[in-house]
Amino acid sequence: MTRKAIALTALALLAAPLVVQAGGPDDDELVINGEIEITTKAPAPAFLSDVMDEVISGWHFRSDETQALEADDFDNPGMIFVDKAREQWDTVEGTEGKSCASCHGAPEDMAGVKATYPKWNDDAEEVRTLQMQVNDCRTERMGAEAWKYDGGDAINMVALLSAVSRGMPVNVAIDGPVQATWELGKELYYTRTGQLELSCANCHEQNYGNYIRADHLSQGQINGFPTYRLNNAALNGVHSRFKGCVRDTRAETYAPGSPEFIALELYVASRGNGLSVEGPSVRN
Ligand code: HEC
Ligand code: HEC
Repeated sequence: MTRKAIALTALALLAAPLVVQAGGPDDDELVINGEIEITTKAPAPAFLSDVMDEVISGWHFRSDETQALEADDFDNPGMIFVDKAREQWDTVEGTEGKSCASCHGAPEDMAGVKATYPKWNDDAEEVRTLQMQVNDCRTERMGAEAWKYDGGDAINMVALLSAVSRGMPVNVAIDGPVQATWELGKELYYTRTGQLELSCANCHEQNYGNYIRADHLSQGQINGFPTYRLNNAALNGVHSRFKGCVRDTRAETYAPGSPEFIALELYVASRGNGLSVEGPSVRN
């Protein structure tokens, strides 16, 4: 059996009845509010050249109705949470009597930042996700409490930081001081887990475009995060999504904010280098 055939057999064990049929991404184009052009297909980064030519946003694999919700901020349910974060941005909290705005000006001044995360922080000598950086500002600079990883406040703020970067290309560094973390993330991506012995790659690299339980499999890109999911009517963080996918293989999973998920986020983000920052996106 070829690798792909093995992966399909494993998928067939997942649930019955299971339909696997070719579908593929559509050819629609995404322009938000009639002005923000989103690059939803881009040449794959060099390190993926053996496995794919093109990287594709998950937007292309959703229904026309779901796609349309993302094309206008008035229709995008995720934008309510962006507005909440704008209020939070101006709210003074903590012992230092400061708000985000005290040091950073307007949220728009953060345009482009989201596109580079996770990234290396020299002083802390660690790879930081955006949530880690925001919490560092809260605890070290504001004297405020850290937000729960992937909790509402944290996700709303990431959605705001994403919204002001929409249309800009994801550009995550993969070498230099982050390389060891990136390698760990890569290893996790290709490791088969759970009773079903499936890796991320089995579904999102070898089977994107196919259907699994009536769900159109995408490449599992994270350029659209945070994601408003119609399924749970909430904004979802990257690590929570990873957790759900690992659980679907019937494996024990890592916690949001764990070193493993931070590494996996760096690796998966880099697989989308060249796609636009798109969050908050809408998915089912
Ligand atoms: C007292 C000043 C101060 C406050 C208040 C503050 N920050 Fe920061 N923030 C900084 C400094 C200084 C840096 C650069 C830190 C570094 O590189 O380690 C930074 C970095 C950041 C970055 C990363 C920027 C980049 O280019 O990588 C983000 C995102 C951020 N802050 C978000 C926030 C948010 C959201 C809040 C409010 C919850 C906040 N900050 C509150 C001082 C502050
Ligand atoms: C059994 C198949 C399967 C496996 C294994 C799997 N996923 Fe998924 N994943 C799905 C399905 C189904 C969806 C929802 C449809 C879609 O967007 O592909 C999804 C969605 C996603 C999304 C959301 C994409 C978007 O555009 O919002 C991400 C990110 C993701 N997966 C990452 C991962 C990672 C990382 C792993 C490995 C830890 C993984 N998945 C393992 C089936 C799988």
